[in-house]
Order: sequence, then structure tokens, then C-alpha cells
Amino acid sequence: MDWLPTWTMLKSCAELQLHAAAKHHGPALIIYAELSKRFPDRAEPFLGQARIYEYLAEKHNKLQFMQKSVEAYKRYLAFNELLQNDKEYRKSAESCIQHMRTLGYFNPALNVHQMLVNRFPHDPDQRNQLVLTLLMIERYSDAKIWLKVSLQQWPHNGLTLTLFGYVLKMYDSDYAQAADYLQRGIDSRAEGTQEARFFLALGESYERLELAENASIVYKRGAQLKLYPSQHQRSVYNQPNLRARPIWSLPETTYAHHLRMISAHWRIIRDESLGMLIDANAVAWSGGSSDDDDHGGGHEGYFRNENENLLATGNWKELLLFSRGERHAKNCQRAPTTCWLIEQFKAAARCRRGQVKFSVMQPGTHVWSHCGPTNSRLRAHLGLIVPQKARMRVVNETLTWTEGEFIVFDDSFEHEVWHEGEKVRLILIVDFWHPDLTEQQISSITKI
Ligand code: OGA
Ligand code: MN
Repeated sequence: MDWLPTWTMLKSCAELQLHAAAKHHGPALIIYAELSKRFPDRAEPFLGQARIYEYLAEKHNKLQFMQKSVEAYKRYLAFNELLQNDKEYRKSAESCIQHMRTLGYFNPALNVHQMLVNRFPHDPDQRNQLVLTLLMIERYSDAKIWLKVSLQQWPHNGLTLTLFGYVLKMYDSDYAQAADYLQRGIDSRAEGTQEARFFLALGESYERLELAENASIVYKRGAQLKLYPSQHQRSVYNQPNLRARPIWSLPETTYAHHLRMISAHWRIIRDESLGMLIDANAVAWSGGSSDDDDHGGGHEGYFRNENENLLATGNWKELLLFSRGERHAKNCQRAPTTCWLIEQFKAAARCRRGQVKFSVMQPGTHVWSHCGPTNSRLRAHLGLIVPQKARMRVVNETLTWTEGEFIVFDDSFEHEVWHEGEKVRLILIVDFWHPDLTEQQISSITKI
């Protein structure tokens, strides 16, 4: 007669391995795999696998393990109604979603959210979490639908209010309503509401309503909570201990030599960008804001609208030559000298937290006050075509450009731009690593 181990024997065998002094994850995984094959109607082996892979992913910092953990969790969660233990179900689904977000599996994560919402219809946080995943993929209009329904049932939920205000700001540009919801949400101090992006959205809404005093209170509060370095420096990807000041002289950057070598060739740089601009006029300029088809990445060959919702009025376009430390080959083909010059300046060409780009601005443009995302870079502007009445405020100083010359500032500090002149303004923007970063720090800093 064949001898077959029973469910109980195998299961306790796996558990024994896991409880052993030196946990034997490998053998336990094998036993769980065997169990799920032999007893396909049982959910526990999948949960066992999911947890082991999760542990291994954490321990070895390996995404493959995380993927396996997600796969196993999904198999487990699919048992759905058959799983009696609500607490365990919720915990597993939440872990699964966490990993899916890390892996960028946003759409599949929405299925897991939906299961949680169905199972816990009286828990507004399940809906808030679903919305948070929607926001990660900028599905604002779907987020809005979910939030509206939530608000009918939970009109005072702090996170729901905050999220709704955030969508009103980001998606509808309805600053008055946005400020109202965001303020109430943030004031609730509910879990998840004390986040930089919500404080920034609220402050920016107030600024756009010309309520500078309110904005400044919000920014100060965020700085007290250490959501960003200071009231006027509101970057969110920060390295500690870097000198933080809005405006830098060339020598202070330690890169004056590189910058001068670039500016010495400014006429060539100007002509290369003009060549592209003239072509671009035919394709994409046409006065409208019709190229909403592109949100970063892979867009080459012509200038594109700035797309971070920073434009108050006017027309402002840019063309990337380098971003996140990588060269945009197609654009560089058409600006070969500019790109060659930048290549000689490694701290710029390899700056994984910055860009090199042309920026072109039409008269009648106003760019809302804003902060860059990181303190790990400085930003240099080389004037190429500089008409009168174009200016940039950085905190409380006003800068103007000069053809053939660089100015350097730290764009993590708030800055705002106006062009009230008569003809287009053209500059080259060059980001480079903050001079206080060591080689070692640079090698470990993630891209943005
Ligand atoms: C910037 C910025 C505006 C411009 O460089 O960070 O906001 O004039 N620039 O191109
Ligand atoms: Mn800027």
C-alpha cells in the first residue's frame, strides 16, 4: 500500500522547520509547495509561502522574493469567502498591496483593494487606501468618484477629506474647494494626513488664491513637523547636512571651471537650441496646450509643455538633453556641441537627480511659486536669449538672466518666474550634484 503523508503531518512538518532554532525556510517552502499541490482546496500553504517569501525579500532585499510573495498572497486571498479569519485576511491583503505598490503593480493591487472594500464595507480606510493606489497612477477622475461616495457616508473622515482636497487641487485646479477640504483634513491630524504632499498642495492652493498669509502658516507647520527642511525649502527627497542656501556664486559651487567652459560656447548652444525650436514651432508650438499626450519619458524631438501644473498664465516649454543621469540620444543628435560640453561636466551629465534642458518662455508667462523635489542638486541657468522684463524670484531675492552667463540657485527653495517682456526668453538649465555630497553618498542616492 502507498504511504501518503496526511495534511496534518505535512503541515506540522513545515511548521517544525520554521520553528527550528535556525529557521529552515528552504525545506519549509518545499513542503508548502507539496502541500498546495496535494491539497489544492486548502489556503494555508499559500499563506505559508507568502510569508516566507516576504521574510526572504526583506532579509535579502530581493525583488524576486517579493514577487513570489505577491503571487502566493494572491492565491491565498483568492479563497476569499472560504477564509473565516477577518483579521488574518486583512493583514495578508494589506501586506500584499504594500508589496504590489513597491513593485509598481498598481492595477493588480486595485483588485485586492476591491476585495477588501467588499469584505469590510463599513471601513472607510479600505476605500482611502484604494484611492491612494489610484493616485499613485494619477487616476484622478476615478479617485474622485470613490471619494465622493465615501464622503457621503463619512463626511468627517480626515483622510478622505484630505484626499478629496488633493484631487481638487491636482486634477480640477479648484483651489478654493481644495484649500477648504485639505485644511479640514490636515487639521483632523488623522493617520495619513500629515504628509508633505498634502501640506504642499494646501500651501500652493492658498498661494494661488493669493492668501499668502495662510500659505505661510501651512508651510511653517510642515517644517515644524519635519516634512521638508524649512518653510522656504520644501523638497521631499533630501540628504542630510548639505549647505542649504537659495543663491550660489559660481566659485561657491566648486564647478566654476566647468560652468565657464560651457558658457564660453553659449552662442553655439543658443544656435543649436534655436534650430530645434524653429522645427518645433512647425510641429508642436501652435499656441495651444495640445500636447497632453506626454507625461515625461521617451518624449523626444521637440519642445514639450511643462506638465507639472505650474503655469499660471502664458506658455513655457522645455526640451530635455539629459535626465536622471542619462543622455537623450535623439535630442542630443540635434544639439551635439551642447551635449558634448555637458558630457565634460560629469557632476551634471551623471546627476541622477537632475536634468539638463532648454527652457523657452513666451511673453506673458507667469510660473507659480514652487520648489524642486530634492536638495541633492543645484541648478544653473545659462542665458541664451534674454529680453527685458523676465525675472525669477528665489525666496526673497530677484534674479535676472544675462546672455552668455550662468546664474546658480538651489531650486529646492521656492522660486517663481515672470516674463512680461516682448519676445521669447531662452535658457539652458543645468543641474549638478550638490558640492557637499561625497562620492560615496552620490553612488547610493536613488534616481528621481
Ligand atoms: C527652474 C524653473 C523656470 C524657467 O529652473 O526650476 O522653474 O524660467 N525655471 O525656465
Ligand atoms: Mn523650478
